[in-house]
Amino acid sequence: MLSFYHVLSTLSAIPNVTLNNGVIMPMISAGTWQYDGPTAEQVVKLALSLGYNHIDAANDYNNQVSVGAGLKGVPRSSYFLTTKIDSQQQSKTAYDATMKDMELSLTQLDLDYVDLMLIHFPPTGNDQYCAAMQEQWRACEDFYKAGKARSIGVSNYCPSSFECILKTANITPAVNQVEIHVGMGPDPGGIISYCKGKGVQVQAYSPLGDGSSEPISGDLVTGIGKAYNKTGAQVSLHWVYQHGIPLSTKSTNPQYLTDNKNAVSDDWKLSAQDFATLDAATSPSGHYSFKCTK
Ligand SMILES: NC(=O)c1ccc[n+]([C@@H]2O[C@H](COP(=O)([O-])OP(=O)(O)OC[C@H]3O[C@@H](n4cnc5c(N)ncnc54)[C@H](OP(=O)(O)O)[C@@H]3O)[C@@H](O)[C@H]2O)c1
Repeated sequence: MLSFYHVLSTLSAIPNVTLNNGVIMPMISAGTWQYDGPTAEQVVKLALSLGYNHIDAANDYNNQVSVGAGLKGVPRSSYFLTTKIDSQQQSKTAYDATMKDMELSLTQLDLDYVDLMLIHFPPTGNDQYCAAMQEQWRACEDFYKAGKARSIGVSNYCPSSFECILKTANITPAVNQVEIHVGMGPDPGGIISYCKGKGVQVQAYSPLGDGSSEPISGDLVTGIGKAYNKTGAQVSLHWVYQHGIPLSTKSTNPQYLTDNKNAVSDDWKLSAQDFATLDAATSPSGHYSFKCTK
């Protein structure tokens, strides 16, 4: 088990961002997507032991019980826990079903509250499902008001989804978690500038392209990294960070976890020229699973 002092001593090493409700969120989280139970528990423990203080989970990763096991015994205020719930399509049942899913997450994680609860995806076809989306957001607001989530937000939301929920929302989402990596440009589909205008913090997922080679071992990022004595993956992650975007990345490898944490730091900075080159990169252009079109 980690000592309280060990966890505290590592907190200052990770930069933070302040969300629109004043909650402070660490700029890098350790992801848990695609891990079976034992791997998820092991990765959570490993990441915390290496100084991470933010874990990214989701109801539909089917490993939340194990994520919770990995967090056992760690002082609750020393880490930030993000999780996600599935979308709803039926307006009549969306509120209750969302509440049930959020409560299930707390039960599975064995926590009294999460730091950030996200709606994982909007249902496909916003216009048809707008009423359900509004009801789902209303449930998130009530969960937040009950103190069970310190902040609430969305994921994979494009402007059309925001236009729907903001018609009835009392609380603006704190975060929109979307795919961002080198090759997608500095404002994929215009979602970063759109969210900025609404006071929503964009957070990047798959900042290494879900393990695709170009953001890790491609000539562009490894070439730039040589001047800074950094790996290609560190260049890719730092490009996101230097844009002021928090990110979630994952690894089971202790060296990679350490490299990634060290990449999200003010100890080094990409030159204006290298930054612009990475902004302009169009490769791996085809490798993304999500990008806004409307
Ligand atoms: N909201 C959403 O819809 C959504 C979607 C996707 C992901 N996410 C979240 O974001 C997290 C991260 O995204 P992601 O899982 O797609 O992956 P990612 O961080 O883009 O890539 C992870 C892959 O890169 C490799 N890797 C990591 N660090 C490395 C390094 N320093 N050097 C070389 N290779 C490295 C890992 O390999 P090894 O495992 O072999 O180390 C792993 O295969 C997820 O786990 C999940 O929590 C959210």
